[in-house]
Amino acid sequence: MHRAEQAYVAPGLQRIAQLSELAIARGNGCTLVDVDGNEYLDFFAGVAVASLGHSHPRFVRAMQAQLECVTVGSFTSEPRLALLELLADLAPGELRRTQLYSGGAEAVEAAIRLAKSHTKKFEVVGFWGGFHGKTGGVIGLIGDQWKQHWGPLPGGTHLVPYADCYRCPLKLTYPNCGMACLDLIRQQLAVTTAGEIAAIIVEPMQGTAGNVIPPPEFLPGIQAIAKEHGALLIADEMITGFGRTGAMWGSDHDGVVPDIMTVGKGVGGGYPLSCVISTEKITSSKPWSNPSASSSSYGGSPLASAAGLAALEIILKEDLVKNAERVGKVMLGRLEVLKEKYRCVGEVRGRGLMLGIELVRDRTTKEPLSKTVTQALYQECLRRGLVAMTYAPSVRINPPLTIKEDAALAGLAILDEALEVVVRDHGLQ
Ligand SMILES: Cc1ncc(COP(=O)(O)O)c(C=O)c1O
Repeated sequence: MHRAEQAYVAPGLQRIAQLSELAIARGNGCTLVDVDGNEYLDFFAGVAVASLGHSHPRFVRAMQAQLECVTVGSFTSEPRLALLELLADLAPGELRRTQLYSGGAEAVEAAIRLAKSHTKKFEVVGFWGGFHGKTGGVIGLIGDQWKQHWGPLPGGTHLVPYADCYRCPLKLTYPNCGMACLDLIRQQLAVTTAGEIAAIIVEPMQGTAGNVIPPPEFLPGIQAIAKEHGALLIADEMITGFGRTGAMWGSDHDGVVPDIMTVGKGVGGGYPLSCVISTEKITSSKPWSNPSASSSSYGGSPLASAAGLAALEIILKEDLVKNAERVGKVMLGRLEVLKEKYRCVGEVRGRGLMLGIELVRDRTTKEPLSKTVTQALYQECLRRGLVAMTYAPSVRINPPLTIKEDAALAGLAILDEALEVVVRDHGLQ
């Protein structure tokens, strides 16, 4: 079926789908089933979108019920009111006002427009390794070579180093570095900007870069720098939000309350839903707050709202934040064992169910394993019934938040077996 689709689908689908050639018939919990009836444990969850797993019965019932009532339009609806109330309760500090969208990049663009409206300034600072989507307004914030050949990039965008301590941009070691990256960022912003920074946008943990966890001083340091510039701090919690890291918000770990939060992915339980959440004062800034100025065709529709409401109620009722913390710890412990066992496992890290592995040819030079090897690892995992983002040297593991300990360990046992094969076949250690 995948082959038949290749005659029609435009190239450029997610690598994980292309490499697998899977055609999926259905999903149930943490399991995906292909059209031939083969089952796969899902450590990918649509890049952390399927926080509830697949076909969660309560989610299905809520969507079915809403489909029979009303689905589109921007009028007030019961699920939207309930969702907005719940978001106001859950969001940190004074962040109580939400505008709803469908995609992640769309919400990030809206957050940037909001920051510009509020500060009356126009520059935006992002990070090396950062990712906030691929639309025109955010493409300059892609912190690697993915944006090449899509220029000209939006003016007034600046990228500064992220505290990725395994691959420290300054080649220093934490904590002896004294957080020199923050000093460098201060210097860079002083000499390269026009002094008109509207926002600094940061992922509390970088997802696309490989589930990177910055040290505890980093986020508060970035918030201080934002304040020095009279800029707003946007925390892009698209992946880290709603329990993924074992806390409700990724920024909770570092005690930071941002000025604006962007959320998406898991918030809709699989339905396209994203949000910009901020304070009364900031969201009333013009022109953002003018009628129709921050809205969109699908944003906050009754169906999207029902999805968000059901997803959040399930996350709370089933205590999935706690589950992420508990099962994540068990998984990290198991990953530490893999690091002991294989020299090509250079680092393992994780917070909640957002875990990462660095696969290296050499632990000293940290040279990443080649794609040939990592793609072989991906196929070995797949053959044994595990879908995971093991096709790149910075492996990301983010199963549904509903995963149970036994399934999590079963998946890591498959990864262990697959690593053993690849290490043997490719002459690694
Ligand atoms: C942190 C972050 N922000 C924004 C986005 C963009 O989301 P979307 O693909 O829905 O536009 C992503 C996507 O992976 C992301 O990881």
